[in-house]
Amino acid sequence: MSTPIVEMTDVSKRFRTPGGFGRRGAGLLAVDGVSLTVGRGEAVGLVGESGSGKSTLARMVNGLVVPTSGTVRTDGDDVAALGRRGLRRLRRRVAMVFQDPLASLNPRQTVRQTLENVLRAHGETTSTSELVELLASVGLGPDYLGRYPHEASGGQLQRVAVARALALKPDLIIADEPTSALDVSVRAQILNLLADLQRDHGISFLHVSHDLAVIRLYSDRVAVMQRGRIVETGPSEEIFRSPQHPCTQALVAATPEAELPT
Ligand SMILES: Nc1ncnc2c1ncn2[C@@H]1O[C@H](COP(=O)(O)OP(=O)(O)O)[C@@H](O)[C@H]1O
Ligand SMILES: [Mg+2]
Repeated sequence: MSTPIVEMTDVSKRFRTPGGFGRRGAGLLAVDGVSLTVGRGEAVGLVGESGSGKSTLARMVNGLVVPTSGTVRTDGDDVAALGRRGLRRLRRRVAMVFQDPLASLNPRQTVRQTLENVLRAHGETTSTSELVELLASVGLGPDYLGRYPHEASGGQLQRVAVARALALKPDLIIADEPTSALDVSVRAQILNLLADLQRDHGISFLHVSHDLAVIRLYSDRVAVMQRGRIVETGPSEEIFRSPQHPCTQALVAATPEAELPT
């Protein structure tokens, strides 16, 4: 079997809390001894209530957060051992899509500038036809190249953010609550887009959400987090059909009736 795209072993992250004591001694233990693997081409969903440590864990995959202990290997590299150049190369292979597209895009840059800048930052030039193709792959027409963020809707902006993530042809996309800030009506479109990318381009996914219904539909495997720990993991359908841990059972119970398996 090929090396997994992500291999986390007994990873913890403790944040210093100014003047206070968080849970389990000094500081706040946001991630507590987690081991998690994402295979090549696999879509893994990380689900859990707000504050359970999902974003912190996801950010350790590409070195945005440095673990207090444990090992993170991403695309074969020990992230802690990478220097600046190594981290740059890693971040080229691991793209992120965040919750709020408006906040993640520069309001003063057109879509063309946004896409050109990410390519230029990694020493790549591009042509208009390549940019048009990139936009087409996320379902946007060429007219978006000249638009500023305020000239597009939330759903369209999230498509732009996905295009930016795709620009460098990543091996892994980390999507952290990518639809939480969007209107309900466009959520499914964005999720379907991400699912298409996984299927058509073989990109691996780490999909973070507090919503089990979302995770279930778009992930092969689910890991359930509670208070910094992974409390249950397994194939999506199985987790949904017979949740074992009380935390998972609560997440399933919170899922609207219409989305329960029949
Ligand atoms: N940079 C930080 N400094 C201090 N505490 C943090 C920081 N980032 C996250 N935390 C805390 O760590 C815990 C987990 O946060 P987070 O990973 O964002 O959870 P989730 O994404 O599941 O909502 C929370 O209690 C949060 O307040
Ligand atoms: Mg989060």
